[in-house]
Amino acid sequence: MSPNGNSAGDQAGHLMPAFELPSTASLRPDFIWGVSTSSYQIEGAAKEDGRGPSIWDIHCQSGAVINHDTGDVACDHYHRYREDVALMKRLGVQAYRFSVAWPRVLPLGRGSVNEPGLAFYDRLVDELLAAGVEPWLCLYHWDLPQALEDLGGWLNRESAAWFADYTTLIATRFGDRVKRFATFNEPSMFSLFSRSLGKRDQSGEDNLHRMIHHVNLAHGAAVDVLREKVPGASIGCIHSVQPCRPSGASEADAAATARLNIYWSSAFPDSQCRGEYPSFMRPLIEPHMQPGDMARICRPVDWFGLNHYSPVYVNAQPDSMLGFGFGEKPAGVPLTPIGCPIDPEAFGETLRTVHQSYGLPIYVLENGYGEYDKPGEAAAITDPGRIEFLRAYIGAMNVAAADGVDVRGYFVWSLLDNFEWDSGYSVRFGLTHVDYRSLRRIPKSSFTWYAGLIKAARRR
Ligand code: FCB
Repeated sequence: MSPNGNSAGDQAGHLMPAFELPSTASLRPDFIWGVSTSSYQIEGAAKEDGRGPSIWDIHCQSGAVINHDTGDVACDHYHRYREDVALMKRLGVQAYRFSVAWPRVLPLGRGSVNEPGLAFYDRLVDELLAAGVEPWLCLYHWDLPQALEDLGGWLNRESAAWFADYTTLIATRFGDRVKRFATFNEPSMFSLFSRSLGKRDQSGEDNLHRMIHHVNLAHGAAVDVLREKVPGASIGCIHSVQPCRPSGASEADAAATARLNIYWSSAFPDSQCRGEYPSFMRPLIEPHMQPGDMARICRPVDWFGLNHYSPVYVNAQPDSMLGFGFGEKPAGVPLTPIGCPIDPEAFGETLRTVHQSYGLPIYVLENGYGEYDKPGEAAAITDPGRIEFLRAYIGAMNVAAADGVDVRGYFVWSLLDNFEWDSGYSVRFGLTHVDYRSLRRIPKSSFTWYAGLIKAARRR
């Protein structure tokens, strides 16, 4: 039994004492439990019903993804969303965060609208509402329409206007039923890494700063559209915040770490929530700035979306972009099977830092545990490591809440195993196993555990 007297039961009602529940006693009574996914990672149906290509379709064709995997079929959520919503209902989550595939609703990114694409999200939203699960809609989880990339993508200042027009379409169509909106998922991640950071050079770094600023302008423009078009909208942006720590003791490692930390965890929230770029970056952004830009970017938001997994260990690599690389993790640090440090205290520290820095209500919109594909169904659905990870992280969140951190929700990444970007289907983050041949969904032991946790936490 756990400290608060809860214990998870499996579906037959047996107790599973090995998997104690963490205390949730310090969380708010209206705390929201959820799960997250994203469009390209689960939908599939990449060429169906008029969807246009995204930059990820093209990237996959380049052979850069492990095993030449693509999102063409993924979890086939496009056709199986009813089954997936039924899983959410069974899990007992109050909310589901998903993203809209921009090229599904606007195949060329702008201009002519693809009605069948919009109709898919109508069906999904209606199914969620009927199941009592609140839809949390993220406008951008990395699948930019390729047609816009061909026009320069986020390096083109016009991208803010394209994004505002896309937001208008989504707000007008779904704003009667959806009230929770996120503008971007992890802008620091896709600006830093999706451009395949290569060798260090002036134009590469200059383009990175240009892109950061344009994505910020797009965020601000979208917030304004949502406020105007959706009465009662609750709006935020989802940031990746992972403490960057030096992997060695040299001054160069310390300097590279401090620099990366700014780009990774501060550049976007500081500008969006405080109206200023970190001082180190200001002269670098300046060439891309026009009068009034900071006011366009810093629009009032309702919450801070936090994605957190683990600290990152950094070293100096003078020839690479921004002069950083990833170094050795300290000996003895426990790791997930895919090599991420398991450090619930770092999660608590991150929650405290975000609370102190921005003073906004926090929703944890991603946290989870990745494993490599395991042969055999029994092994694939038995995941004690994931349960232990979630137990420790949720426990750390409860401690942070007891210390006064205003955290209001927690969403596991992810409902389903799915297409894990350049790792393809080799890495699994789901509470539900997906057999990619049959597309059958099988809840893992962590699914049963999380369902038990939600039930116990909501009973309080
Ligand atoms: C996050 C991404 C999400 C998923 C998890 C594991 O950075 O937002 O799409 O890939 O990592």
